[in-house]
Amino acid sequence: MLNVTETFLPPMEEYTKYLQKAFDKKWLTNRGELVVELENKLKKYLSVENLTLTTNGTLPLQLAIKALDLTGEIITTPFSYVATTSSIVWENCNPVFVDIEENFLTIDPQKIEKAITERTSAILATHVFGNPCEIEKIQQIANRHNLKVIYDAAHCFGVKYKGECVFNYGDVSTCSFHATKIFHTGEGGCFITKDKELHDKIYYHHNFGHNGSTKFHGLGINGKMSELQAALGLAVFDHIDEILNRRKTAVAYYNELLHDVSSLKLIQIRPETQWNYHYYPIVCDSEKTLLAVMENLNIEKIFPRRYFYPSLNTLPYVQESTMPISESISKRTLCLPLSANLDRSSIELIASIINKTQV
Ligand SMILES: Cc1ncc(COP(=O)(O)O)c(C=O)c1O
Repeated sequence: MLNVTETFLPPMEEYTKYLQKAFDKKWLTNRGELVVELENKLKKYLSVENLTLTTNGTLPLQLAIKALDLTGEIITTPFSYVATTSSIVWENCNPVFVDIEENFLTIDPQKIEKAITERTSAILATHVFGNPCEIEKIQQIANRHNLKVIYDAAHCFGVKYKGECVFNYGDVSTCSFHATKIFHTGEGGCFITKDKELHDKIYYHHNFGHNGSTKFHGLGINGKMSELQAALGLAVFDHIDEILNRRKTAVAYYNELLHDVSSLKLIQIRPETQWNYHYYPIVCDSEKTLLAVMENLNIEKIFPRRYFYPSLNTLPYVQESTMPISESISKRTLCLPLSANLDRSSIELIASIINKTQV
């Protein structure tokens, strides 16, 4: 069986070597030495100044909205995972959707200004499949209208844009370290911001608002990463370059076998991006083609995923709006299996099934 992704598991003895440290200290959470060690390694590897690990990749989105004191309307993308929209609604703000660019699949900055009202407080955009948004244009609009910018960078571990870690753009970036991600801690995530004061505000929010054991800065929640999660992260991190290289090789082979299939388009990566090969999405010419491809792959026990589907403007708890490009793209996009362990023969089988699928 081949799923859309296969979680990278380090050798058990490498994982237990880190776990042993937590057991020796009898210290399993509350920012022990493993969480701090992983944060320091990630800050160095990613070239970011302020990064705090969290329980998952959804909470930091909510914490960022809270810490930036956002209210009213937040402009966002309809083509993302549900956590992007649900975080806005959870924090009692209204998501206002702006359609996406067909080629890059990220929010279309040309359409943002028309959606801004006096109630708009921020833009929350997703670097879809690790493909950066049109960052400069978004920042110019934000500056003109005095808006905050949060990037849902859940897919962006290791991505650079114009030579700089993509996490360093906007007011805050968040990442997910879910088991399906390139770098993972089972469940996990982080927030990153260049602004130390803002970082500290989010940091307090993620630890109940504690200022020492008996005092409080303000309101908080429990968003801490545990030592058990960090132990897995440290063991995975030791293999990160090998993981990225193996994915790069798999993507190159997919591209070679699929680049001239007339019924589908491949993802276009924004120029000046050092990508991380996180997903292998194909955009079919129709939903009918997508369903036929899925069915034929499923027969061979190959399970790609309709990611992202449905378009988020159609969620039952958001105000009705029409986003023609996102709705069309989400009906036609399929993420093919991709992992560090995907072998050439599996890629050949998947490509031959796609090539042979007639609708
Ligand atoms: C774009 C995006 N944002 C947010 C999340 C939420 O991350 P987590 O599952 O770590 O909470 C995901 C998870 O897949 C995602 O793909």
